[in-house]
Amino acid sequence: MNIGLLNKKFKNAKPEEVLKFFLNKYGEKTALSSSFGVEDQVLTDMMLKIDKSANIFTLDTGRLPYETYSVMDETNFKYGTKINVYFPDSEDVEALYQTQGINGFYESIENRKRCCFVRKIAPLERALTDLDIWVTGLRASQSVTREDMQLFEMDETHSVIKVNPLLNWSETEVWEYIHKNNVPYNKLHDQGFPSIGCAPCTRAVKDGEDIRSGRWWWENPEHKECGLHKK
Ligand code: ADX
Ligand code: SF4
Repeated sequence: MNIGLLNKKFKNAKPEEVLKFFLNKYGEKTALSSSFGVEDQVLTDMMLKIDKSANIFTLDTGRLPYETYSVMDETNFKYGTKINVYFPDSEDVEALYQTQGINGFYESIENRKRCCFVRKIAPLERALTDLDIWVTGLRASQSVTREDMQLFEMDETHSVIKVNPLLNWSETEVWEYIHKNNVPYNKLHDQGFPSIGCAPCTRAVKDGEDIRSGRWWWENPEHKECGLHKK
């Protein structure tokens, strides 16, 4: 498939139209990766309304906040689904602990990237192995590192087409959808957490602060990607 043509064809399409196209064409070879953040909850609602058995998976790093597990449970219950969960390799986690301790990620960027690799990137690679289409909840306005993203991108590393249906949505549009459609959401969003990852690497932000400033807050903005979305 030609990525340039796809980007042209769907330039002004609604996220639902984009999802419908890929779900019809690729079925279960299309999957949403969900962190249960608010954008992913919008896409989960849209996808399951199009296809009750749409493929949705999450990467459980083992360090997620309690509230994330609650919204996972609530989502499975509301939609009658069982979202797929990928866990890190237990031997890799044990080796990580032996080399950097339990919270070694605070000590250096190298340690932090190693932890993200073991707990997220390696499981993501497993999850994407048999897929053609990888749907994400990325938005361009979330961060300086995401401004140049496209609606469709070729992910050469994983040999999939990456689809970002909410690329041009604002935070306000996301919340309007959630409330209008009564979609369950992570309660940490009500406590000053616009962006939620692992518990030890996420904190609340103050009004007016950058929405990703609570993620890996001890690092510079250019480093604030765990590697899931590197080009
Ligand atoms: S991250 O790279 O900084 O962690 P972010 O939390 O902004 O990413 O989420 C961006 C997108 O990455 C989400 O919409 C989702 O598609 C994917 N993602 C992030 N974390 C996970 C996770 N734990 N499991 C599955 N998908 C995830
Ligand atoms: Fe490890 Fe933090 Fe990365 Fe989670 S976000 S995998 S705890 S470094």
